[in-house]
Amino acid sequence: MALRTMSILSIFILFSSFPSPILCASILRGLPLPLVTGPLAFAFDAGGHGPYTGVGDGRILVYQGSITGFVEYGHTSPIRNKTLCDGTNSVDLATICGKPSGLGFYDKTGELFIADSIYGLVMIPPGGGVGKQLATSAGGVAFRLPDALDVDQSTGDVYFTDLSGVYNLSQTGDLVTSNDTSGRLIKYDPKTKQVSVVFDGLAGASGTAISEDGSFILVIELLKTQVRKIWLKGPKKNTSEVLLTFTGSPDKIRRNIAGDFWVAVSISSPNVELLGQRINGDGKLLETVNFSPKFNTTMVTEVHPYNNGLYLGSLDLNYVGVYREFKRYLDDN
Ligand SMILES: *[C@@H]1O[C@H](CO)[C@@H](O)[C@H](O)[C@H]1NC(C)=O
Ligand SMILES: *[C@@H]1O[C@H](CO)[C@@H](O)[C@H](O)[C@H]1NC(C)=O
Ligand SMILES: *[C@@H]1O[C@H](CO)[C@@H](O)[C@H](O)[C@H]1NC(C)=O
Ligand SMILES: *[C@@H]1O[C@H](CO)[C@@H](O)[C@H](O)[C@H]1NC(C)=O
Ligand SMILES: *[C@@H]1O[C@H](CO)[C@@H](O)[C@H](O)[C@H]1NC(C)=O
Repeated sequence: MALRTMSILSIFILFSSFPSPILCASILRGLPLPLVTGPLAFAFDAGGHGPYTGVGDGRILVYQGSITGFVEYGHTSPIRNKTLCDGTNSVDLATICGKPSGLGFYDKTGELFIADSIYGLVMIPPGGGVGKQLATSAGGVAFRLPDALDVDQSTGDVYFTDLSGVYNLSQTGDLVTSNDTSGRLIKYDPKTKQVSVVFDGLAGASGTAISEDGSFILVIELLKTQVRKIWLKGPKKNTSEVLLTFTGSPDKIRRNIAGDFWVAVSISSPNVELLGQRINGDGKLLETVNFSPKFNTTMVTEVHPYNNGLYLGSLDLNYVGVYREFKRYLDDN
């Protein structure tokens, strides 16, 4: 396939002379998808394989290197029709095809948990295949738009969001102009198989990431363009604070190996600027990377740090962006 050969999109080289000469180069390349678009979010398994991504046609794909590319790993909908669904990115077909959004492995078991906008919390067993639906409601209220997900690797607890309790996938146009505050953060406990509401009243809960020590979890509130810190343990348990308001629309948030968090932020005017912004658990902005115009779409859905790379998600592109930066101090030897 011609697309397979797409690789290096750009190399920027910058010099700065103070305090020490530094050579800084960045590369944005694409991992092509097989005739499908919309790789929203990413996960890597315990063996370092991936990225795994849920695409617009309801499948979960896994990348197996540049020769093989992406192959099918599984899907979320129990009634998915391959003939009808493969290659689509239609919202109208989502009730048949499924619409996977946030996803993450529990490393100890190899189970892949997925927040599916139609099918709720779904788990694909180790090795892949058809997902098992684990929850469609919490606290007696049905999910409307399950969206972001993260797994606490020390307990196996799965945290995920219902972006809104009012608007569903067909109604996202109305949602973005609303002042909806019916988003919820939900927890699934794999030991009891129970779901419970951790926090409600969220303004478009589009992203979530748990801290390294499990003491707090960050939630993006898209409609208020802010990140909220919710304490899960200790004396402040169940209380929250707003850490930071973004210029632009934040979507998913992912923790890196150092314990910081990358937020995908999209600015639409005066020019489209698609950013990755790194913050710490106190909400301090540590770094901003601009992927525009090479990452050429309207929105970056996730900036996923893994092995010195940032994996970039979108609603409509036919590839996964991979951004890498190289820094070398010229007086180093
Ligand atoms: C799947 O979709 C195709 C195309 O619409 C249709 O012809 C076929 O009958 C469907 N299969 C099932 C099992 O529903
Ligand atoms: C969203 O809700 C509306 C009204 O309740 C319904 O007509 C539509 O089918 C729903 N869309 C999806 C994708 O579930
Ligand atoms: C949302 O709130 C803003 C500011 O308070 C207001 O101008 C706007 O009309 C509200 N939108 C809706 C859909 O209620
Ligand atoms: C925390 O909040 C949840 C949901 O509002 C509630 O069910 C739970 O009892 C609260 N826990 C504590 C320790 O206050
Ligand atoms: C970005 O995409 C638009 C529309 O597809 C196209 O017109 C434009 O040339 C692209 N820009 C770059 C820098 O590739």
